Amino acid sequence: MKVSLPYLKSYLLLFLSIPFLIFSSPGSASAADIGNCLLCHKYPGMSRVDEEGKFRLFFINESIFNNGVHAKVKCEGCHTDITEIPHKPAKKVDCLVECHIVEPSSEKKFSHKSVETDLGQSVHGKIDSAGKSKKYANDFPECKDCHDEPLYRPLSFFKKVRPGISEASLGRCRVCHKKDEFIYRFYNHVTTRLHKSRNPINIAEVCARCHNDSQLVERHGLSTKAVFSYGETFHGKAARFLDERIPDCLDCHVNKGESAHQMLSHKNTQASTNDMNRGKICSNIDCHPNASPKLATYNVHAEFNLKQSPAQYFFTVFFIVLTGGTLLPLMGIILLDLIRRFFPNAVIKRRK
Ligand code: HEC
Ligand code: HEC
Ligand code: HEC
Ligand code: HEC
Ligand code: HEC
Ligand code: HEC
Repeated sequence: MKVSLPYLKSYLLLFLSIPFLIFSSPGSASAADIGNCLLCHKYPGMSRVDEEGKFRLFFINESIFNNGVHAKVKCEGCHTDITEIPHKPAKKVDCLVECHIVEPSSEKKFSHKSVETDLGQSVHGKIDSAGKSKKYANDFPECKDCHDEPLYRPLSFFKKVRPGISEASLGRCRVCHKKDEFIYRFYNHVTTRLHKSRNPINIAEVCARCHNDSQLVERHGLSTKAVFSYGETFHGKAARFLDERIPDCLDCHVNKGESAHQMLSHKNTQASTNDMNRGKICSNIDCHPNASPKLATYNVHAEFNLKQSPAQYFFTVFFIVLTGGTLLPLMGIILLDLIRRFFPNAVIKRRK
C-alpha cells in the first residue's frame, strides 16, 4: 500500500483529534430517527483505508447532521439500498430520489427533480437543445460536484460549523409559540435559506475545479480560466481581503430571482452577462447604483496576458517598467551617496 502525503495528514489530524472527539458531547437526537444507524456510525474513529488507498471516514457527527438541511431526512431516505443490518456495501446516493417528506404547498412527495430540470436547461446541462449529448459530457457538473456538504466530506468536523441558530432571535418566537422543537425547526429552515451559505471565496472554490482547469477551458472554447481571472481583478482581490459584499460568481451569473442552477452562456440573450443585460448587474442597488452603462464594458475576467487582453497586458507592463525604472535608479543614487558619506576619501584609482 502506498501512503501519500495527504493521507498522512488525515491520519495526523485524526490522531490529534481523538481527545477532542472523546470529550465532546454528542448532540441530542431531536431530528430524524437516526438511532439505528448511529448505533455503529456514532464512533468518531470509524474509518479505514480502502482498496484504492483512499482514507474513508464512516463517522457521522450527529449534531452536525441535526443542524444541517437534511436533518429531517432519515438515513435510509438517501441510502435507499440499506434495508437490513448488518448491511452490505452501500451504493452511491442519488440526489434526485423521492423522499418521505411532503412539500406543504403542493402536498406532493418531495424530491430535487426540479433542480435537475433547471440545471439541464442551463449552460451546465449535459444535453443540448436538439436533445443530443454535448461533447465531453463528463466535464459537466453533477449535484455532488458543487454540493460537497460538510457532512459528506471526511474530516470536515475539524472545521468550524455554525448551525445558524441565533438564540437571541429565538426568544422572539417563544413569545407566541410554546414548543421549542417547532420553533427550532422552522427558524432554522427559514433563516438558513435567507442568506448565502458560502462566502465569495468558497463559491469560487466550487467552480475552480473546472473553471481553472486549462484543458477543460480549452476543450470548451472558453476564453479565460474564470476563477483565476476573477482573482486577478479587483473583485477577486477584494473578496480575499474585504468582506462578503463583494460580488461572487453567482451575483453576476445568475439572473435576479432565479435559481443558482440556471446560469447561461454569455452569448445567450437571456443571460445576465449578455452584452444587452450587463449594465443591470453593475448598477444593482447594492453595487454601483449610479454607474453609467459604460462601466459594464470593464473586463471583469482580465487575465493580464498578451493573448487574452492586450490592452491590460501593456498597461501592466508599462507600470512595472515605470515603477522599476524610477525606483532602481533612485536606489542606486542613494547607495552611491551612502558610500560617499561613510568613506569620504575613498577613490577607485589614485590619479598620478
Ligand atoms: C452493525 C453496525 C452498523 C450499523 C447499525 C449501520 N452500519 Fe453502516 N457501516 C458499518 C460498517 C462497519 C461500515 C464500514 C464498512 C467498510 O469497511 O466498508 C459501514 C459503512 C457504511 C456506509 C459506507 C459504506 C460503503 O459501502 O461505501 C454507508 C453509506 C453506511 N454505512 C450507511 C448506513 C446506514 C444508512 C445505516 C442505517 C440504516 C447504517 N449504515 C447502519 C456498520 C454499520
Ligand atoms: C440527504 C441525503 C443523505 C442523508 C439523509 C444521509 N446521507 Fe450518508 N451520504 C450521502 C451522500 C451523498 C454520501 C457520499 C457518498 C455517495 O455519494 O454515496 C454519503 C456518505 C455516507 C457515508 C460514507 C462516507 C464515505 O466516505 O464513504 C456514511 C457512513 C453515511 N453516509 C452514513 C449516513 C448515516 C448514518 C446517515 C443518517 C444519520 C446518513 N448517511 C444520512 C447522503 C446522505
Ligand atoms: C464539473 C465541472 C464544472 C463545475 C464544477 C462548474 N462548471 Fe461552469 N461550466 C463547465 C463547462 C464544461 C462549461 C462549458 C459549457 C459549454 O461547453 O458551453 C461551463 C460553462 C459555464 C459558464 C458559461 C460560460 C459562457 O460561455 O459564458 C458559466 C457562467 C459557468 N460555467 C459558471 C460556473 C460557476 C459560477 C460555477 C460554480 C458555482 C461553475 N460554473 C462550476 C463545467 C463546470
Ligand atoms: C454548478 C454548480 C452546481 C451544481 C451542478 C448544482 N448546484 Fe445546487 N446550488 C449551487 C449553488 C452555488 C447554490 C447556492 C448555495 C449558496 O447559497 O451558497 C445551490 C443551491 C442549491 C439548493 C438550495 C436552493 C437555492 O437555490 O439556494 C438546492 C436544493 C440545490 N442547490 C440542489 C441541487 C441538486 C439536487 C443538484 C443536482 C441536480 C444541484 N444542486 C447541482 C450550485 C450547484
Ligand atoms: C405575535 C405572535 C407570534 C410570533 C412572535 C411568532 N409567531 Fe409564528 N404564528 C403565530 C400565529 C398566531 C400563527 C398561526 C396563524 C397564522 O397562520 O398566521 C403562526 C404560524 C406560524 C407558522 C405556520 C405554522 C403552520 O403550520 O401553518 C410558523 C412556521 C411560524 N409561525 C413560525 C414562527 C417563527 C419561526 C417565529 C419566530 C421567528 C414566529 N413564528 C413568531 C404567531 C406568532
Ligand atoms: C462582476 C461580475 C462577474 C463576476 C464576479 C464573475 N463573472 Fe464571469 N463573467 C462576467 C461577464 C460580464 C462575462 C461575459 C464575458 C466577459 O466579458 O468576459 C463573464 C464570463 C464568464 C465565463 C465565460 C468566459 C468566456 O468568455 O468564455 C465564465 C466561464 C465565467 N464568467 C465564470 C465565472 C466564475 C467561475 C466566476 C467566479 C469565480 C465569475 N465568472 C465571476 C461577469 C462576472
